[in-house]
Amino acid sequence: MNAEILRFTTPDDLYRSLLGRLVRELESLQATSHGPVLALPTGNTMIPFYELMVKNQNLLLPESWTCFQLDEYYPIPASKEPLGFRNYLDRHLFSKLLTPPRCREHPDGGAEDADLECARYEARIREVGGIDLAILGIGTNGHIAFNEPGSPHHSRTRRVELHPDTLQANFGSDAPFHHAITLGIETLLEARKILVVALGESKATAVRNALLGPICPEMPASALQKHPSVTWFLDSSAASGIPAGF
Ligand code: GLP
Repeated sequence: MNAEILRFTTPDDLYRSLLGRLVRELESLQATSHGPVLALPTGNTMIPFYELMVKNQNLLLPESWTCFQLDEYYPIPASKEPLGFRNYLDRHLFSKLLTPPRCREHPDGGAEDADLECARYEARIREVGGIDLAILGIGTNGHIAFNEPGSPHHSRTRRVELHPDTLQANFGSDAPFHHAITLGIETLLEARKILVVALGESKATAVRNALLGPICPEMPASALQKHPSVTWFLDSSAASGIPAGF
C-alpha cells in the first residue's frame, strides 16, 4: 500500500494541512516549463477549502496554473448552467482570485457530441503534459470524479449515467441532470500525485473499502491502491473504519 493516510480531529486542521501541502506541491511545480497542471473537484467537502485557498491566494500563484475540472453534468441546457460544476468553481474559487489561472479547462456540458467532447478533453490533458496534481473527493458509494460503482479501472474520459445515490446526495429529489462527463479512472491514475479529501461518518465505509477492500470496479476509489503517490486527508469520522496505525 503506497497511500499516506493523514487523520485530523477538526476540519480546520485538515484544511490547513491540505493548504500547506498544496503550497509545497505548487512551489515544486513552479519550476516546470508548463507550470502546475491541476485537476480540481467539486462537492460540499471542497467549499471550506476553496475559501481557505482564496484567503491565502498570495501563496498559490494561481496565474501559473492550468486547471482541469474532474467532471461536469451533461447535457446542461443554458437555463441550468448555474447548477453545473463550471459555475460551482467560478463561484467558490475562480471569481475570487485576483489573478485567475492562465488556463481553465472543463468538459463542455453544451457540446453537441459527447464522445467528441470527451476525446477533446483527453487530448488537452495530453497536450499540457498530463496532470501534476489531482485533488479528489469521494462519494458515499465510493465514486471518484463521477466514476460510479461498476466503472472499469481502465476507463477514460466518457459520458456516464449517475447513480441514484449520487443524484440524491447532490440534489435530493428531482435531480435536474442524470448524466455527466467525467475523467476516467485510468485518466485519474495517470496524475502524478493525488490528494483525496473526506470528512464525516457518511464517507467512513467508502474510505475503508477504498483503502482496505479488494481492488474492484464496484469500488471505484479502490483503484487508488494502484497509484504510487496518494495522500488521504481524513477527519476522525471518515477515518473511523481504518485501524489505528494503518
Ligand atoms: C460529487 C463529485 C465528486 C465529489 C463527490 C463528493 O458528485 N462528482 O467529485 O468528490 O460527489 O461530494 P461531497 O463533497 O459533496 O460529499
